[in-house]
Amino acid sequence: MASVEKTEFVVPEPHPQNRATHDPSAPAHGLGRDAEAAVDARQHSGENDIETTLRPRSLGEFIGQPKVRDQLNLVLTGAKNRGVTPDHVLLSGPPGLGKTTMAMIIAYELGTSLRMTSGPALERAGDLAAMLSNLMEGDVLFIDEIHRMARPAEEMLYMAMEDFRIDVIVGKGPGATSIPLELAPFTLVGATTRSGMLTGPLRDRFGFTAQMEFYNTEDLTKVVTRAAKIIGVSIDPDAAVEIASRSRGTPRIANRLLRRVRDYAEVNSNGHIDLAAAQAALVVFDVDEMGLDRLDRAVLEALIKGHGGGPVGVSTLAVAVGEEPSTVEEVCEPYLVRAGMISRTGRGRVATAAAWLHLGLEPPAGIMNTLY
Ligand SMILES: Nc1ncnc2c1ncn2[C@@H]1O[C@H](COP(=O)(O)OP(=O)(O)OP(=O)(O)O)[C@@H](O)[C@H]1O
Ligand SMILES: [Mg+2]
Repeated sequence: MASVEKTEFVVPEPHPQNRATHDPSAPAHGLGRDAEAAVDARQHSGENDIETTLRPRSLGEFIGQPKVRDQLNLVLTGAKNRGVTPDHVLLSGPPGLGKTTMAMIIAYELGTSLRMTSGPALERAGDLAAMLSNLMEGDVLFIDEIHRMARPAEEMLYMAMEDFRIDVIVGKGPGATSIPLELAPFTLVGATTRSGMLTGPLRDRFGFTAQMEFYNTEDLTKVVTRAAKIIGVSIDPDAAVEIASRSRGTPRIANRLLRRVRDYAEVNSNGHIDLAAAQAALVVFDVDEMGLDRLDRAVLEALIKGHGGGPVGVSTLAVAVGEEPSTVEEVCEPYLVRAGMISRTGRGRVATAAAWLHLGLEPPAGIMNTLY
């Protein structure tokens, strides 16, 4: 257990149906009602605390992702009505779209406990065995970055997911014996930013895969407006739209930009966020009108100015911008591809005409034209 990186029990509050009043605008920091009154969200000093505060708690409170919400609602309600634990759920999508939030919501909606760990923490099968054997019936086990789990742990997980049973090896060498261990039925929720890296057998054992998509500006505007209310800052509707449209389709970025714009508004005026303050602050923090940040633009520049628009391999691009290939691949590329700026080809990454135009350059003749 010593090497389990992040192990914690989160006991969700009762489902709204099971309690007298439920205020959806209440801060979502998971504290009891009394503590909620005592700890106002605005008094949180750490930014990480704020991120926790901003997590929606229930499916009803979760903004956007209508397809995933509807599908998950069916899966959870169906299982609840039949009195069984729901199928295992895989949440897949780029960082910051709400995978961890959704895992917490699943436990909340089921009214059960959430046990959290992550793939890199499950180095040995024993680490996983310890987690699994501690689960109570109906618990939700959340494994973040499940694609980074070590092979022996993954193989143990196959049997646990399918039969709620594992074989624990005791001893070493010829004297080693395998002891079968029954597990309480549980629901595994796995999250991954790289579903392509999951092995076939693991992917097949999930009964439902939720593909989280980038958010549209309308939904992100709701995210910004909700967050502003929770952290207690006043914001004009057009300023909320401005922040939302520059958030790369990602709620985590929307919340982060809101906090930066708030800093700007507090330092430069009375703290109220209007459109002018939002625009000025986003210039200061290097976020352009498409929402691309410094790293996104560095990737485009390396691709276009360094390699004539490609094709170029992702590791070459990563070296050029001083980042890990996985960061370029998992953080920058999904949005640049969706924004129609780069395309992934068998020979490497290629800049589209939109990317050339975005950097203020004339695209070479004959380049594939995409809508800008
Ligand atoms: N639908 C939503 N409505 C409002 N806020 C959201 C929503 N989804 C995510 N957020 C906010 O975005 C932040 C990031 O979400 P979360 O941590 O769940 O992302 P993630 O997909 O797990 O990211 P990573 O892959 O980096 O772990 C949360 O703190 C939460 O406040
Ligand atoms: Mg997460």
